[in-house]
Amino acid sequence: MFKIGILTGGGDCPGLNPVIRAVVRKGLNEGYQIIGIKNGWKGLIENDVTPLNIDSVSGILPKGGTILGTSRTNPYKKEGDLKKLIDNYKNNGLNALIAVGGEDTLGVAVKLIKDGITNIVGVPKTIDNDLSATDYTFGFDTALNTATECIDKLHTTAESHHRIIVVEVMGRHAGWIAIESGIAGGADVILIPEIPIDIEEVCNVIKKRHQRGKTFSIVVVAEGANFKEGTMITQEEKLDEFGHVRLGGIGERLALEIEKRTGYETRISVLGHIQRGGTPSAFDRVLGTRFGVKAVELVKNNKFGKMVALVGNKIVDVSIDEAIRVLKTVDNELYDIAKVFFG
Ligand code: F6P
Repeated sequence: MFKIGILTGGGDCPGLNPVIRAVVRKGLNEGYQIIGIKNGWKGLIENDVTPLNIDSVSGILPKGGTILGTSRTNPYKKEGDLKKLIDNYKNNGLNALIAVGGEDTLGVAVKLIKDGITNIVGVPKTIDNDLSATDYTFGFDTALNTATECIDKLHTTAESHHRIIVVEVMGRHAGWIAIESGIAGGADVILIPEIPIDIEEVCNVIKKRHQRGKTFSIVVVAEGANFKEGTMITQEEKLDEFGHVRLGGIGERLALEIEKRTGYETRISVLGHIQRGGTPSAFDRVLGTRFGVKAVELVKNNKFGKMVALVGNKIVDVSIDEAIRVLKTVDNELYDIAKVFFG
């Protein structure tokens, strides 16, 4: 019987379970056997795999996270891991692989295709929404809604206490969560990695707002944003297996600087992993489901080396290799819209 392996790698996000469910349901309908690989590429290195049937995916549609588990394991990092992975792929009799992940997981997929595991299809996920080939990745919409709800809540306490609240959101080197939650939540200043922070200007905007009678302000800052004259702010020196630093800390620096320069009492709220948790929004459930079904269709049609993507309202396929090459960042047009409401 034709066997398809499925794995979820990298940071988790809401919508992964709808993809797994869709792959299993569509795969079984097509007469395929579906093998779940645990914890991303790690599961294939350690041969931690399990067959998935209709009962394995029953009731998982509204659940956040991933029933398969995930990790940031890079099989190209440690000597010997690649061989183990390829051996386990063969020994399990896998005929194809569906890799659900962001640029790191899919980057490994591209290398594996060159190294002999040719039958791979990619499914893009990330709350960061930073993959250029797809209009949206699932996970983003849920994270955006969570961040917006938090901004709404922070508004009431900021207003009562006449404070500035700086809200630090995730998004790595792209400002999508910040810009969209900032617009949706009515932030007074939004700071993103794409545009260096001019602290003087930020403080002027806040002061002007206070001069017109407002006694509180909400500043949304993306974790990857930087001061004009500064270096990137990170949590620790250590890099993960894909060479990424852990971002975070810009909110605190910004809050200190704003309080020092304006004299207004300032607090900081770091939303952190709460943005990655919880039940997927209806949008993410539908997108994940469409991606999962399309991924199995690509396998059926031997369209390997492809990634499913949303373009307009159509699910299409694009080359994985090209899809991960360019980071999708926030354009000036959207930032100009956000700026209308600053201050
Ligand atoms: O890529 C998703 C993401 O949540 C980023 O927004 C964030 O910088 C990073 O992952 C956090 O990773 P970790 O869960 O390893 O701390």
